[in-house]
Amino acid sequence: MTDFEGLKALVTGGASGIGRATAELLAGRGAQVAVLDLDPSSVGKPLLAHRADVTDDASVREAVAAAVAELGGLDVLVNNAGIGAQGTVEDNDDAEWHRVLDVNVVGMVRVARAALPHLRASRHAAIVNTCSIAATAGLPQRALYSATKGAVYSLTLAMAADHVREGIRVNCVNPGTVDTPWVGRLLSKAPDPAAERAALEARQPTGRLVAADEVAAAIAYLAGPLSGATTGTSLAVDGGMQGLRLRPVGQ
Ligand SMILES: NC(=O)c1ccc[n+]([C@@H]2O[C@H](COP(=O)([O-])OP(=O)(O)OC[C@H]3O[C@@H](n4cnc5c(N)ncnc54)[C@H](O)[C@@H]3O)[C@@H](O)[C@H]2O)c1
Repeated sequence: MTDFEGLKALVTGGASGIGRATAELLAGRGAQVAVLDLDPSSVGKPLLAHRADVTDDASVREAVAAAVAELGGLDVLVNNAGIGAQGTVEDNDDAEWHRVLDVNVVGMVRVARAALPHLRASRHAAIVNTCSIAATAGLPQRALYSATKGAVYSLTLAMAADHVREGIRVNCVNPGTVDTPWVGRLLSKAPDPAAERAALEARQPTGRLVAADEVAAAIAYLAGPLSGATTGTSLAVDGGMQGLRLRPVGQ
């Protein structure tokens, strides 16, 4: 498929997991793609790579400007860089709240702010934010992370309203638990990684983790010219976790 032929895309957090799968999918469908990441050392051709920390405004502005110059414009921004946090409201101090909000929420704002002047010049401008099922379902031990993703959801709606008349669509994807290096790190810290993985799989009605490629495909749908009438939406890619209420097996 070459529906992205001639389009230029920037993917934050594009060196790993969902971002990497998205960057590779968009490139495979004809886009020129630049990755912006804290550590882009593993990123190779055909992807372009730029180092930036989304918590550092100067670094974001510099990397976005360099990426846009190299690409020759910008049509698609995939705002995907994010980090996790565990625990209830009692478990993280103020510094950790500020740190995770800074990456997951203000990070998206910084990149969008730097990208918007370039997106305005595009005829197919789209922003896709990586949100989470944590924005729409109450998950235990995820107070801080959920608060950041709730903010990403609301930010998506507000940005969609602000920029619709400029021809810029803004949507988000809400993944369930995705089989990425991030979840691998979480599992390796669990007392019984196999049991923890089985519990995460069982939480999703499909009985398995989501694949990064499946989230990438949803992002590509929202970013592509064929979804030109879609803005201000969230697309769940969660194995049915948000919408379904199954009876226990055998009942
Ligand atoms: N894996 C899941 O189960 C899951 C579920 C729902 C939502 N998400 C969201 O998907 C996104 C990607 O997650 P993933 O599982 O692919 O994670 P990952 O850890 O595999 O990849 C995240 C990437 O973001 C980069 N990054 C982190 N902090 C950064 C910063 N300050 N500046 C620039 N880059 C930075 C990392 O270097 C890494 O390459 C995140 O926003 C996450 O919240 C993940």
